[in-house]
Amino acid sequence: MSLSDLLSERSIHIRMSSACTAQRSDCGRFLAIVSDKFPELRLTKWTQVFELANSRLNEGAPLVELRDCVLTSGDDRQAAAYLAQIERLCRVGLVEFPLVDDEEEVAVIAPQQESYIPSLAPRMPDTAFVLHRFACLRRDGEAWLAESPLSGARFRFVDLDALDRPLVRRALAAAGFLQAGRPEEDVQGHTLAHWEFHDLIYHTHSRRGWHHDPSGPQCPLIGLVEPEPVRRPEWPGAIVSLPRAADAGGEACSAILERRRSERDFDDNNPISIIELGGLLDRAARSRSSLAGSVQDSSGKTAPFEGAQRPYPSSGAIHELEIYPVVHLCDGLDSGLYHYDSWRHALVRIPADDADVARLLRYAKIAISAPGNPQIVLAIAARFPRVFWKYKSIGYGNILRNTGALYQSLYLAATEIGLAACAVGSADAMLFARITGLDPFIEGSVGDFVIGSRRGIG
Ligand SMILES: Cc1cc2nc3c(=O)[nH]c(=O)nc-3n(C[C@H](O)[C@H](O)[C@H](O)COP(=O)(O)O)c2cc1C
Repeated sequence: MSLSDLLSERSIHIRMSSACTAQRSDCGRFLAIVSDKFPELRLTKWTQVFELANSRLNEGAPLVELRDCVLTSGDDRQAAAYLAQIERLCRVGLVEFPLVDDEEEVAVIAPQQESYIPSLAPRMPDTAFVLHRFACLRRDGEAWLAESPLSGARFRFVDLDALDRPLVRRALAAAGFLQAGRPEEDVQGHTLAHWEFHDLIYHTHSRRGWHHDPSGPQCPLIGLVEPEPVRRPEWPGAIVSLPRAADAGGEACSAILERRRSERDFDDNNPISIIELGGLLDRAARSRSSLAGSVQDSSGKTAPFEGAQRPYPSSGAIHELEIYPVVHLCDGLDSGLYHYDSWRHALVRIPADDADVARLLRYAKIAISAPGNPQIVLAIAARFPRVFWKYKSIGYGNILRNTGALYQSLYLAATEIGLAACAVGSADAMLFARITGLDPFIEGSVGDFVIGSRRGIG
């Protein structure tokens, strides 16, 4: 669809997105877009013949009426120049498209991808059409949103009855929200057959290019909510000091990378020791220092935000990950649940139900198809608010990336020390919440890592 196709479609209007207006620039020489979210955006040279079209663009009108407004006092060249500016606004996602039925605005199409121009299916989809399996409907404040990662736009309705309107159905069909036949049928043999609904939603929303939502270090809560401190509040309970790593390590990094493997068989006659556990956590995960810094939101408001320095990288130096060793067998350490205080390089004992601890160990054994229970599972939890206070859209993706970085750090340290180690892909986050008593939306399980003594190594 191109913008000029909209000239013949009077039921699809066009208007500036909320919080933006088209007007004469402050200096008076340009047509400009003004918003409190970004600096004035200058378009073409200002001429008085744009005045009426602009006010109609701010309210919303069919494209043909905007062109005719320019033509009333201007010429073809000026009308073409004005449409070219609107095309520019479409490209950067600053316009939306109200659907108007019998003079009533029944829905708004909000583009999510560059240069998206809506259209209508030639006729009302018949009853064999169903909601596409990747489409979903959710509330957003007072409105309903229909969204699909496969569509270049979202639909916003105030009233769900809008979905029964032929005009809305035709627009939804054209935007890829409806599909013919049973949902399963059209994906047979299709590349999308590999994708699950939640994976695709998450993937497309955590990368740019698929949506126009704020993304990156937006810090929307500055001034409203204090960020979580870099140091997790200490757990009460008995402290077990951990030994530091024995030496600086003599083996070349290249040799450790070459030797690294996942190992799932443990020597329970000579279990891992507290000295090895301390060395591993020191090498892979100890907090070395805090980093004073500050962040800024889109309006320029700033706030102090402290980061940390650890052996593995972390987006924004946020270091939201915490390690909870669940110990089955460890020389010098009682079995049970602990928190690794990476600042004090110590473990803090957390009271936990024995049956739940046994269950967590058993699930890890099953996940890695090990012959027996792992000697230690390092349950990894993320302090979500620390990340979501700063990042929009990419926060959760970054938490998983950080977990991957920690995994590799643990793998390399374990290889150097001579421990068996294996990452775990699936674990029971609700079991972790129950064992620790933590709110899973504040500090929740995002990964697990199994360690123990290698069979054959004393
Ligand atoms: C994110 C991630 C999740 C993993 N999950 C599991 C798992 O649940 N069970 C398992 O036995 N191995 C798991 N592994 C280990 C892989 O199976 C292993 O890395 C792969 O087979 C390659 O073998 P290597 O590590 O010896 O090179 C995981 C590895 C990663 C990085």
